[in-house]
Amino acid sequence: MPISERLSRLGSGVFARNDRRKAAYSRLAADRASGLPPLLDLSLGSTDLQPPPAAIAAMVERIGRPESAAYCLHAATEPLRRCVATWAGRRFGAAVDPETEVLLLVGSQEGTAHLPLAVLNPGDGALLLDPYYPSHIGGLHLASARPQLLPLDPAAGWRPDFERITAQQWNQLRLMVLGFPHNPTATTGDQTWLDAAVEKALAHGLVLAHDNPYVDLALDGEAPALLRNPAWRACGIEFFSLSKSWCLGGFRLAFAIGAEWLITALRQLKGVVDFNQSLALQAGAIAAIEQAPEWPAELRTVYRRRRDRMAAALETAGWPVRLPSMALYLWLQLPPQARGHDSESFCAALLEATGVALTPGNGFGPGGEGWARLALVHPDAELDAGAARIRAWLAQQ
Ligand SMILES: Cc1ncc(COP(=O)(O)O)c(C=O)c1O
Repeated sequence: MPISERLSRLGSGVFARNDRRKAAYSRLAADRASGLPPLLDLSLGSTDLQPPPAAIAAMVERIGRPESAAYCLHAATEPLRRCVATWAGRRFGAAVDPETEVLLLVGSQEGTAHLPLAVLNPGDGALLLDPYYPSHIGGLHLASARPQLLPLDPAAGWRPDFERITAQQWNQLRLMVLGFPHNPTATTGDQTWLDAAVEKALAHGLVLAHDNPYVDLALDGEAPALLRNPAWRACGIEFFSLSKSWCLGGFRLAFAIGAEWLITALRQLKGVVDFNQSLALQAGAIAAIEQAPEWPAELRTVYRRRRDRMAAALETAGWPVRLPSMALYLWLQLPPQARGHDSESFCAALLEATGVALTPGNGFGPGGEGWARLALVHPDAELDAGAARIRAWLAQQ
């Protein structure tokens, strides 16, 4: 069957293989006679924590209304766009026009994956951090763009060093895709890093796309935001999500704020692909943002406790941990006991022996090799039990 070249470049093999291994383990563990503990899936950033009741109540109240079942065109998204613009003013001091500078999305994943199709021509260069979030490179492949990787150095605290890019390379770039707080390294980053990127974008005529679904999950101080730099209106677009801050990942609610011409371009592209979320879901988003502004802070308290417990347990097991500054993940260099393993074979062996699933770092690009990501998405007791299983296994290596 004919498969497009751009699809064959996607190469999501690591995640598909990890999924198959998790399914195989679960089948084995389902047989009680196996004596295997159930799968503890720490490989996805999909949280066990719950959304604000006010958000769910708002959705429930509207779900049966006829307008909630209708296609939702741009004009009808105005209440949520207004709410988002007010939030951006409060949060970042940015005066955002809800009519021309805000676009609803069904995920920051969707938005960042579609943006390259809206702003790049085939063969255009785009700068990407390495390690990267998989849909960032996926979107570039779908647009037949040429990714230029900027390796992040652990020794430099994962700070992007834009001086590594030569003048000639800058001239071939049309788009820069960044995201701090950063997945998978769980590094919050710094506003000066983003400001340096803005300078480069302005100097070389690039679009700067900043994926910021973790803006509320910085554990030490404030997260960087493109909207804090007034030049966003000239060259930038920033992606936000209700998935992490309000635990609404399954409801697919997100938005972009950016330069009018970028919002217009992405809106035109999205017009071909899809409609907006149901008005019932949008009402839930408004309720979350307006009625539960404290939700992210409460999540941070839980994630901080989980981070500290898990890090302490892994340290006791002989697995050194660098405490991350962003909630939700631990980004772990393979432990000394992993001798001979690469990140994928290590995670596979760990899963087979303990039922604990991590994400192999190689799924996030070449810079992720030698690392694994652990998501803190289960209650304390389950994380403690998982850490005990890891500890027992490491002791045998
Ligand atoms: C960097 C990054 N962008 C986007 C997403 C997906 O967010 P959403 O649920 O808004 O699509 C994730 C989810 O883990 C992420 O880590």
